[in-house]
Amino acid sequence: MKKTNLSKLLLNWYQNNGRKLPWRATKGAHPNPYVVMVSEFMLQQTTVKTVIKYFEPFIHRFPTIQDLAAADLEEVYQLWQGLGYYTRARSLHHTAQTIVNEFGGQFPQELPQILKLKGFGSYTAASFSALAFNLPATVIDGNVIRVICRLFHLTEPVERIKEDIITKASQLTDCKQAADYASAIMDLGATICTPKTPQCLFCPWKEACQSRDKPDLEQIPNRTKIDKKEKNGSVCLIFNHKGQVFIRKRIEKGLLSGLYEFPWKEDGKIDFSEIQDSGKQVCHIFTHIRLTLKIYTLKCERSPLADGLFVYPKELKNYPLSTLMKKVCRKMGFNI
Ligand code: ADE
Repeated sequence: MKKTNLSKLLLNWYQNNGRKLPWRATKGAHPNPYVVMVSEFMLQQTTVKTVIKYFEPFIHRFPTIQDLAAADLEEVYQLWQGLGYYTRARSLHHTAQTIVNEFGGQFPQELPQILKLKGFGSYTAASFSALAFNLPATVIDGNVIRVICRLFHLTEPVERIKEDIITKASQLTDCKQAADYASAIMDLGATICTPKTPQCLFCPWKEACQSRDKPDLEQIPNRTKIDKKEKNGSVCLIFNHKGQVFIRKRIEKGLLSGLYEFPWKEDGKIDFSEIQDSGKQVCHIFTHIRLTLKIYTLKCERSPLADGLFVYPKELKNYPLSTLMKKVCRKMGFNI
């Protein structure tokens, strides 16, 4: 079946069967981007059922982005109590202030700018831009992954085929009706294509679904964890006599490109002479690797590496660092 037909079928189904959720605009009305942002932040790592209980009191207390921006963080935390993952509340409050103070209360409407806002990772930025501004972005959450894997009978572990799932989901997205499409595919996963006993008879995609009537239907998506390779590496903090530390920028391609880092190695000890073991280490999980980095320090006036610069630890926050390097900073007590 053609992709355009599939999206039409889904959008038609959504007109009559979509969930009525308190953060959704009523048919025909423009969504309120502030309301969309609050709901998307709450829905990160939390179910719709739980979020419904917290959303209305929150919006009642902070009906506009200006109200939230002017609030004490303490009060935001209070209304967030029970939802967990409090970093979300802090980021939400911070972004409300950014929008009010730096953008005159209006959200930017382009994905690269949205991605720069605090708390907007790639998933939230995609769903926010689709739901708030109808931008042609594709939502990927647990429901969408299940629907796509079943539609195309993708049985490999999700961790391994994530890119393929994202490509297929993007190709199906109706770019002109991205907002309704995003809500529709999430609703299909939540109400019809459920983990157990899916209601295939009522599914708008039943004719096209490659998993329908297959015995492994409920085993899809395959959530098997891929064994991660253990790696033991090292990172070296090179200090000069002023207490500045050496950082360098990664080359512009591949993993962690463009970010700043302390010199590090994926395996083994960095071979500078006279480095000292700090007795500290950090652990980080990449897609296929569980990496433990031992932290070493070295005191010298000129770095043994040429391609970087010395900065004061308090200046590190001005440089984009990977999560791995941020962990190193925190471990060493740098305020970033
Ligand atoms: N999960 C993430 N965003 C959602 C939304 N807007 N509606 C339902 N579930 C969601």
